[in-house]
Amino acid sequence: MNTPVPHDHANHPDLPHVAPAGAAVMEAVDLAQSYEVSRGLFAPSATVKAVAGISFRLAPRSTLAIVGESGSGKSTLARMLTMIERPGAGSLRLDEVDVAEADARTLRRYRGEVQMVFQNPYGSLNPRQTVGSAIEEPLLVNTTLSAAERRARALDMMARVGLRPEHHGRYPHMFSGGQRQRIAIARALVLRPKILVLDEPVSALDVSVRAQVLNLLVELQEQLGVAYVFVSHDLGVVRHMADEVLVMYLGRAVEHGPRDAVFDAPRHPYTRALLSATPVADPEAKKERIVLEGELPSPFNPPKGCPFNPRCPLVQERCRVEMPPLEKKGGQLVACWVAEG
Ligand SMILES: Nc1ncnc2c1ncn2[C@@H]1O[C@H](COP(=O)(O)OP(=O)(O)OP(=O)(O)O)[C@@H](O)[C@H]1O
Ligand SMILES: [Mg+2]
Repeated sequence: MNTPVPHDHANHPDLPHVAPAGAAVMEAVDLAQSYEVSRGLFAPSATVKAVAGISFRLAPRSTLAIVGESGSGKSTLARMLTMIERPGAGSLRLDEVDVAEADARTLRRYRGEVQMVFQNPYGSLNPRQTVGSAIEEPLLVNTTLSAAERRARALDMMARVGLRPEHHGRYPHMFSGGQRQRIAIARALVLRPKILVLDEPVSALDVSVRAQVLNLLVELQEQLGVAYVFVSHDLGVVRHMADEVLVMYLGRAVEHGPRDAVFDAPRHPYTRALLSATPVADPEAKKERIVLEGELPSPFNPPKGCPFNPRCPLVQERCRVEMPPLEKKGGQLVACWVAEG
């Protein structure tokens, strides 16, 4: 079951700070989520720890990338950050207000400040709603702007994401995947949120349009000053846009730090394996190739000790017994008994 933990910021003196103290637009401390899952008629139900003890500070205008394999808890974390789901434990602060504990009125106020873009641009838009009315809908619900003002705001946002004015009255099926994702981004940004949580925003797109959408996101961040939490299973996708990277494994952070530290000197064997599977632009670059053995263990029955130990090429006796804490090693935080500092 979920046991709420005290909101003790002193527990995390080593959080890597892209944001100096006080300047974060979002601060998560020990966020956790567990689900009770039925396992059939006669089996007792089991608890899945989907997310356990995730902490970070998000600086204004910066990008935090959350990376991990399928099932590592990324979408669960994204749902808590966007207040779609209340955290099972931990605190989530926006403007120094803990929204994890907030009442419905406070929640409503903050919901507008954190918006989400989903992976599937085909499922996230209503097929019977025109593009213009989809983008204007958040304004209709959350503001007192007139119809003319809403239209003007929508057209402005459409231009910023590369859509033309005549697209305003068209329906989603008339657009390609990349264009639909532009529509979803315009809709998410029209209220001018401080934070955009993007859950695999380019994974469903054709490789040829991925770079365009990523470049658009970088431009929009510069223009609008929005901060991103960018969820991806692929380190390669976040390489150029992340300021900070948090690598998750079975619901936990195994490595977390500034982009250059994580990419240039990864320390956790899991991060190294993920990176070794990412193509590099420079064919001359010498690369170690680490192949991950086995699959992500069942979240019902996570391994004792370090959750990565059954697949780890560097495993030692201690790793099978004790969970390594997330500790400062080099420029980042690493949860590993073996990784050097
Ligand atoms: N509503 C839910 N009820 C029960 N279990 C859930 C629920 N949501 C997620 N889980 C479980 O929590 C774990 C993490 O799932 P989550 O969807 O957050 O992973 P993910 O990293 O987003 O994976 P993917 O890359 O496939 O999207 C999984 O074991 C999943 O089965
Ligand atoms: Mg997911």
